[in-house]
Amino acid sequence: MESTFVMIKPDGVRRGLIGPIITRFEQKGFTLIAMQFMHLERSLAEQHYGEHKNKPFFNELVEYLTSGPVCAMVWEGRHAVANARSIIGKTNPVEASPGTIRGDYGMDITGNIVHGSDSPESAQHEISLFFHSAMSAPMFMEISDFGHTANISH
Ligand code: GTP
Ligand code: MG
Repeated sequence: MESTFVMIKPDGVRRGLIGPIITRFEQKGFTLIAMQFMHLERSLAEQHYGEHKNKPFFNELVEYLTSGPVCAMVWEGRHAVANARSIIGKTNPVEASPGTIRGDYGMDITGNIVHGSDSPESAQHEISLFFHSAMSAPMFMEISDFGHTANISH
């Protein structure tokens, strides 16, 4: 059975979309096999998006990804990589179809809510990066970790 790496990005977490996004994966038929809430070190964010390091948007992307906690997950299922990309939708929410996660919840190409691996090989690479490294020790968030747009009442 194929696995894929999915990460709810900081705006997805800040906006309280962990539940709805997980529900969509469950309803599609995926099985959740690992999940970790974490605030990424800059080095891990840079490694994760290493293929884009020469792109003009790289720094903005890394700043964004480290701006608050993310929810890193491994989902298993038939054609997991392609099926996950299909329910996530196109990279730019402007082009993503309604009914996809980015089409329904996103408006901005940087804050596009969720990441999904683009091939079985990158899925394996990303899973080892996030789940088999020394950086993956369980941790608890401070409210201040969520950044200035956090909407948490005390
Ligand atoms: P991920 O699942 O996040 O990897 O997105 P993707 O596979 O749909 O797109 P890709 O890997 O090509 O790009 C990674 C991320 O870089 C995207 O999710 C966007 O946030 C950002 N990105 C990609 N292309 C552009 C662009 O042309 N301009 C800007 N500002 N950001 C971009
Ligand atoms: Mg990608």
